[in-house]
Amino acid sequence: MDSQDASIQKKVPNHTRNSPHLAPGNGRIVPPHGQLAERDRPLIAVFCDWLAATRVSQRFQDLDWFVPLVQTIHILSIAVVMTSVGFIACKLLGLSGRRRSLAALMGGTMPWVWSALALLLITGTLLTITEPARELLNLLFRIKMLMVLAMAAILLLLQERLTRDPDYWTASAGRRGSARALGSAALLLAVCIIIAGRWIAYT
Ligand code: HEM
Repeated sequence: MDSQDASIQKKVPNHTRNSPHLAPGNGRIVPPHGQLAERDRPLIAVFCDWLAATRVSQRFQDLDWFVPLVQTIHILSIAVVMTSVGFIACKLLGLSGRRRSLAALMGGTMPWVWSALALLLITGTLLTITEPARELLNLLFRIKMLMVLAMAAILLLLQERLTRDPDYWTASAGRRGSARALGSAALLLAVCIIIAGRWIAYT
């Protein structure tokens, strides 16, 4: 491959490199060896190409400041979620002081967590619109999204039981054990989500 070919190759996103080639001679579209014909491509890949070609995605791609700004908001929101989940997990594991009850702690922190998660969803969606194939075709991104859902479900469960009964998670040894397990799971998920989120860039 000469240097001009190499520079063209570089500009073509991975997912579009699989486009079918015109077979020499018969004019019929056949995929190169081991690649899928256009009609056989997964719907999600076709959707990514469509989304990347929309005016809104093209506009985001053209603005140099857009991705760094959106990523900065994403990262600041991660800090809020991580700190709050860390505090909640420490409380559930009995690693923090007894001055403040779990209900008081969660009452103070959960509005921040839900707001930060909403910002993460908005900024994450904007990043996905900008580079659909980079995210939606990436296994780590899908695993990350499942972990985000699992973490949100755990936090919702912890919060919902407390709104009904402020002493719910401390009422019995069994519940204290469940609370410890849920707190540890939420913290572990938050750490794994951060690792997966960072790792997407290297896959
Ligand atoms: C709520 C839905 C969320 C969506 C839709 C979302 C989406 C995204 C996207 C598209 C990226 C860019 C990845 C790339 O191309 O390199 C990203 C990066 C990242 N996300 Fe999320 N995310 C969400 C929530 C979270 C949460 C809850 C956390 C952690 C608590 C998190 C942590 C990260 C990290 C650490 C990065 C890498 C940032 C960087 O290095 O620039 N995300 N996310």
